[in-house]
Amino acid sequence: MTIPRVSAVVGAGTMGPGMAAVLARSGGRVMLNDISAEVLERARGAAELAAQVLERVGAPAQPGGSISFEADLATAVSGADLVVEAVPERIELKREVFAQLEKHSAAGTILATNTSGIPISEIAKGLRHPQRVIGMHWSNPPHLIPMIEVVPGEQTDDDVRARVVGIIEAFGYEAVVEKEVPGFVEKWRALTSTRASPRTSTPTCLIRPRCRSSSRTGRRASSSA
Ligand SMILES: NC(=O)c1ccc[n+]([C@@H]2O[C@H](COP(=O)([O-])OP(=O)(O)OC[C@H]3O[C@@H](n4cnc5c(N)ncnc54)[C@H](O)[C@@H]3O)[C@@H](O)[C@H]2O)c1
Repeated sequence: MTIPRVSAVVGAGTMGPGMAAVLARSGGRVMLNDISAEVLERARGAAELAAQVLERVGAPAQPGGSISFEADLATAVSGADLVVEAVPERIELKREVFAQLEKHSAAGTILATNTSGIPISEIAKGLRHPQRVIGMHWSNPPHLIPMIEVVPGEQTDDDVRARVVGIIEAFGYEAVVEKEVPGFVEKWRALTSTRASPRTSTPTCLIRPRCRSSSRTGRRASSSA
């Protein structure tokens, strides 16, 4: 798959603006959404700054990309081929947001989460179409670390996984496919009884120009920071 014609990023805090800048630089129309009008306003500057950094480091670019700042979730996700959720790391909140995403997006829209450690299957639980939910874990800052972990849930379609890997590679990032290993959910539950916000993964590279661009398959080794 190539870059989605239209994508939405839900949550415009630390991660959202940089993610939106990468997708827009690749030629896509991006709708950036946040529940806070103040955050959304601030995100204009953050997205612009990220775009300038991408320009300075000579990141691959395609014409036609844009970012719109949209306070209404239904409007933001309507017509999107890909939605990336980047709201705070709380399972109840993510479930609430995904219920809204399912309600307002088209049936074929890929619903991705930037969660750092919540099992994808847990986020997708209770949805009518959990097969289109997938983890797409960017590193911070998202416009400078060209690697994204792809984590299918128990019910994620293979086709959805392949499409997300294709999107990531289309904007020149490395896709690292990881597994929700058996026992991962139980391990996560044990962790959440002692820690509020489990984190995962160490990026394989920290600065964009030093990174490789091939995809590889890995294993989700740990749900802790
Ligand atoms: N910050 C990091 O270094 C980092 C790195 C990788 C992954 N992540 C993950 O990315 C996700 C977002 O992290 P962040 O650091 O950007 O969080 P953040 O707190 O900086 O931003 C989250 C934004 O979501 C908004 N929000 C809350 N509820 C919302 C809703 N219902 N609809 C729309 N917007 C809503 C908030 O107003 C806030 O602006 C988390 O799952 C986190 O674990 C963070």
